[in-house]
Amino acid sequence: MSTGTSGYGDLKVFSGRNSKHLAQRVCDHLNIPLGGARTSLFPDGEVITKLDDDVRGRDCFVILSTCEPVNDNLMELLVFCDCLRRASAARITLVMPYFGYGRQDRKDEGRVPITAKLVANLITAARADRVLAIDLHAAQIQGFFDLPVDHLSATPVFFNYFQQMREDLGDLCLVSPDVGNVKVAESMANLLDADLAIINKRRLSGTEVDVGNLIGNVAGKRVLMFDDMISTAGTVCEAARLVMDEGAIDVIAAATHGVLAGKAVPRLVESPISRVVITDTIPVGERCEPLKDKLKVLSVGELLGEAIRRIHDNTSISALFRSTAGVKR
Ligand code: R5P
Repeated sequence: MSTGTSGYGDLKVFSGRNSKHLAQRVCDHLNIPLGGARTSLFPDGEVITKLDDDVRGRDCFVILSTCEPVNDNLMELLVFCDCLRRASAARITLVMPYFGYGRQDRKDEGRVPITAKLVANLITAARADRVLAIDLHAAQIQGFFDLPVDHLSATPVFFNYFQQMREDLGDLCLVSPDVGNVKVAESMANLLDADLAIINKRRLSGTEVDVGNLIGNVAGKRVLMFDDMISTAGTVCEAARLVMDEGAIDVIAAATHGVLAGKAVPRLVESPISRVVITDTIPVGERCEPLKDKLKVLSVGELLGEAIRRIHDNTSISALFRSTAGVKR
């Protein structure tokens, strides 16, 4: 592997404990070994990381999703960053395939925190140099950082998958189950030459939603529902019932981040959704076993690997998206 033109020395890619599988895919793409590091817990639960490799003067990337358990993973990421800084890494990029706390991005009522901003502050205090993320819940989270944030879209990964089966999908309608994700659903509808419909959702609580109105026509069509994440699955399952009531013949749910919290897995199993397509930004694990007949997990490993190569080589990441679908924001 070249040392690149970035001037930050040789490339090193490390992984936090929950992202080993994805990090290995990234390293396979880059044709480098995964960096050696061990993270463990003291008996009282404090986390410690020990590097096995020399990182002095190196261009270091740490891959770790701040998914459940969110606070433990966030702390592990901060500790890893501090460890690299104190070991004299030349540059540290935190690769957060899933950025936890992304939904707390504004004060939507009085007396609540903006925790996404707090996370950005913590990352800055840990002295990271850059952040690389995929499908942040709100693009403006980039602006919470005063450091460069490369924000990738997983759209090319989904496009490659659905494009291959486009003929079999027949009369297709892209549905955004949440108005916040309409742009992504629209761009996918254009790419797949499909119709577009939107659901006007109202969140009742952290686990319950009310999907009131469908704007568009799904009768006699296969529905492909697109969202940034499936958390409790309340949104997609309610939306799936609505579109089936409106005459859809089948529903596929696709989302970048399979958060799958709480009762999400049994909800999806019981729902009219025939297939759930997510990516490996969050490790799937045994919790998804009951869903395995419906589940397809796509990998963002190559996408991340290529972005890391370009950051290291000081070449454009936007160009990565020019020849294919999606955007880099
Ligand atoms: C909402 O703003 C997001 O785009 C998702 O629709 C939402 O976070 C999914 O949450 P849940 O699966 O818990 O309904």
